[in-house]
Amino acid sequence: MSKKFQAFRVKEVAEKQFATSIESLSTDDLPAGDVLIKVHYSSLNFKDALSASGNKGVTRKFPHTPGIDAAGEVVESSNTAFKKGDKVLVTGFDLGMNTWGGMAEYIRVPAEWVVALPDGLGLRESMVYGTAGLTAGLSVYQLINQGINPDMGKIVVTGASGGVGSMAVAILGKLGFEVVAVTGKESAHDLLKSMGAKECVGRDTLNDESKRPLLKPLYAGAIDTVGGNMLATILKSLQYNGVATCCGLVNSPSLNTSVFPFILKGVRLIGIDSVECDIDLRKVIWNNFASDWKIDYPEGLIEEVKLEGLADKIASILKGQIAGRVVVSL
Ligand SMILES: NC(=O)c1ccc[n+]([C@@H]2O[C@H](COP(=O)([O-])OP(=O)(O)OC[C@H]3O[C@@H](n4cnc5c(N)ncnc54)[C@H](OP(=O)(O)O)[C@@H]3O)[C@@H](O)[C@H]2O)c1
Repeated sequence: MSKKFQAFRVKEVAEKQFATSIESLSTDDLPAGDVLIKVHYSSLNFKDALSASGNKGVTRKFPHTPGIDAAGEVVESSNTAFKKGDKVLVTGFDLGMNTWGGMAEYIRVPAEWVVALPDGLGLRESMVYGTAGLTAGLSVYQLINQGINPDMGKIVVTGASGGVGSMAVAILGKLGFEVVAVTGKESAHDLLKSMGAKECVGRDTLNDESKRPLLKPLYAGAIDTVGGNMLATILKSLQYNGVATCCGLVNSPSLNTSVFPFILKGVRLIGIDSVECDIDLRKVIWNNFASDWKIDYPEGLIEEVKLEGLADKIASILKGQIAGRVVVSL
């Protein structure tokens, strides 16, 4: 039986002009899929803001409902892997890109995208992590998988007050790593320290313009969320056999570097993708969040908004002004 529901919608009102509003839709309007989910929580990520502002690299077709993350309860499932009442979460794949997303009371998706909420993780808690947490989790997983451990030295995290960065700081801190948080917000230093950062430094610290091929080796590892010259500076500043992960581009999508960190220092650069990443690896990360990697993410870094409050938060995240995570309650 069809159900009416509220959704945060983006429309192209004139060429290259987009407007958002809250609209009433019917579950009959949703795309085909195996699993209908009543969404309890979503979360705001940088990509949602791009979708909501009409970025065609993220979303080609409008009108659209953004929201790359959703957590809630199964209402109907044609796939036997899920049944009515199961608590589940969906992040990435095409959700919120060209499939209507989690900023709505209902989504319908293929069963292959759905992860059963692990015991020990709440629905709201899962959206405090959201794609940002999954991306941070994948980044930490790759550092460890590449052999980096807390005895080897400092781990630097860029965009540290942002969604991915703050999650990475908290997970690394929980696992006993010495974390250097790079942030443009002095106001975030105390919170980042309370989450596990040993040291907070400004963005200028990692903006080398010297053109030297290598710099003083300061870090055993790095989780970079911003790209550009910051990532280039990190690659020059890693210790022998150091590992950097790269997931984002808020500083710049360009990476001007040389081969020297790689051929003289054995440096490794690992790309992180949370969108298409293997479902079994996702389950490993979500299970970690329900157990050994569970973090006490400070309530002070979580803003909870309803659909009505989203437009303001989207404007803020586009300006790099959000510290921490925005959870959307439905
Ligand atoms: N690969 C993937 O699967 C994946 C998944 C999720 C996100 N991402 C990408 O990862 C990046 C971070 O996402 P997010 O959700 O954490 O975004 P976010 O919450 O907006 O955080 C980004 C942070 O970067 C810093 N920043 C902003 N502008 C900057 C600039 N010009 N130079 C240097 N630092 C700057 C700010 O932190 P400070 O003020 O503390 O410096 C900001 O809070 C985005 O590019 C996003 O698209 C990729």
